[in-house]
Amino acid sequence: MTATNDRGEPWWKTAVIYQVYVRSFADSDGDGIGDLDGLRGRLDYLQRLGVGAIWLTPVQRSPQDDYGYDVSDYQDIDPLFGTLAGFDALVADLHDRGMRLIMDLVVNHTSDEHPWFVESRSSIASPKRDWYWWRPPRPGRHAGEPGAEPNNWGSVFSGSAWELDAASGEYYLHLFSRKQPDLNWEHPAVRRAVHAMMRWWLDRGVDGFRMDCINMISKDPALPDGPDGGRRGAFGDFGPHVIGGPRLHELVREMHAEVFEGRDGILALGETPGVTLDEARLLTDPARDELDMVFQFEHVELDHGAGKWDPRPIHLADLKASMGRWQAGLADAGWNSLYWGNHDQPRAVSRFGDDGIHRERSAKVLAAIQLLLRGTPFIFQGEELGMTNAPFAQVADFRDVEALNHYATATAAGEDPGVVLAALRRVGRDNARTPMHWDTTPNAGFTTGEPWIAVNPNHLGINAAAALADPDSVFHWYRRLIALRREEPAVVGGDVTLLLPHDERVVAFTRTLGTVELLVLASWSADVAAPPIPDAGGWAAAELLLSSCPRPADHDGPLDLHAWETRVYRRRVP
Ligand code: GLC
Repeated sequence: MTATNDRGEPWWKTAVIYQVYVRSFADSDGDGIGDLDGLRGRLDYLQRLGVGAIWLTPVQRSPQDDYGYDVSDYQDIDPLFGTLAGFDALVADLHDRGMRLIMDLVVNHTSDEHPWFVESRSSIASPKRDWYWWRPPRPGRHAGEPGAEPNNWGSVFSGSAWELDAASGEYYLHLFSRKQPDLNWEHPAVRRAVHAMMRWWLDRGVDGFRMDCINMISKDPALPDGPDGGRRGAFGDFGPHVIGGPRLHELVREMHAEVFEGRDGILALGETPGVTLDEARLLTDPARDELDMVFQFEHVELDHGAGKWDPRPIHLADLKASMGRWQAGLADAGWNSLYWGNHDQPRAVSRFGDDGIHRERSAKVLAAIQLLLRGTPFIFQGEELGMTNAPFAQVADFRDVEALNHYATATAAGEDPGVVLAALRRVGRDNARTPMHWDTTPNAGFTTGEPWIAVNPNHLGINAAAALADPDSVFHWYRRLIALRREEPAVVGGDVTLLLPHDERVVAFTRTLGTVELLVLASWSADVAAPPIPDAGGWAAAELLLSSCPRPADHDGPLDLHAWETRVYRRRVP
């Protein structure tokens, strides 16, 4: 495998990356939890789809409090998922197929069961004490009393971001669950340990890292109170003192020099909640030797009201404005990632599309936009089947620490349990984490055992076996779009022009490279639409590369669209 293609572009600009949430992908041993051997058994499917790389959610040893995002040993595979030998075999199988593997790298925090934290917690005098953020109670307060936490920060997973350690009378910082203490990146030994661990994985053959919450590693060491309210409810917002913190660029550049320098074709991808466009430009400008791309969050926060658990309708014009800003903002320097969903978001077709009668067509709309904009697309497992949110009936059906903590905290604070449950059903992360639908056998072919979270009953109609057999399926639509990205240089390198920015029913954009021009035209509604595309007549005469409706719309205009219809045209311009 070469690091660049024949146009000199790095592999990750042309490849489509597929995210495997290992726990829910394929279970080889009947324990109800997906594993590496299960994944190895499904590589033909991924190769058929045409993806160039897999991003594997964390498989290192972990107590699984946040399903692997709480690592207790960075250099071993959790027995739930397999062994290091099995991991090596997976990497070899992928490489044999010309595919690559990206690891999740969770180093903003460890598990509280990681030996580093166990040592750090053992005594105030421990040499590893400062590997984490320990602080005494607020002056004048006694440890454990309400308000004695060292500052007012709220945790992403509800409650205070501080946990009291009764033995020492000090608190430790955890921006996520109390079992995910934050590492102190100010400490050089922490950085050295992380860099060494990263090199160890690269030496094993992995092709890059998706760096969890990487823009949160540099905290203002004074740990000042944050602004009240907002998304953290009764607590203060840590954001201003943590996100894009004072030494972020320095730390990321140091990582680049220590880990990536001199290695070819390694992808450094940052997950960066709350990142601004300016910050993303700095982080991904190749001249700065920081990251190759970031996951920004703007488009997946458009439906937030007073925070994530207060979902609002999404206005298409807002979505297009965001898309346009990021496409333009990273056009000359830097590079975009393109995603609709992942293991932290509800299912894309349920959130952005219509998961009722227009499920397949709206899934195809999302696919065409994502795969034909400029950037590297990330498909989350099951998106290529148009998998939907799950019909969770009660709180006991949920598994995610974020959802369960929120339910407990919100209902204890007097919120209506029915309303809280409705929000969990709509935006909870478990929607994306129900098992992959392989076929119509029990548990959708995911496991022969009892699945760790219920399989969505709609797998009888929505599954890989059925999709592979149907040439018009969402799967084959994705496959054709992925092939088009490979074959048509304008998709990777072309300029992007968004059309009809204020239209609430149609998404339209062109891609232009040299003499080739593509038009992507998609209906974003259940109505018929007549988009006023400039030069509609010219486009109607162009080559129709892809169309999600069997016959052209039987209306007046040549570019009129059916409900949730997608078309892709290509023409040569003089
Ligand atoms: C990232 C992960 C998410 C996890 C959190 C804490 O946002 O994607 O799943 O809960 O970081 O590690």
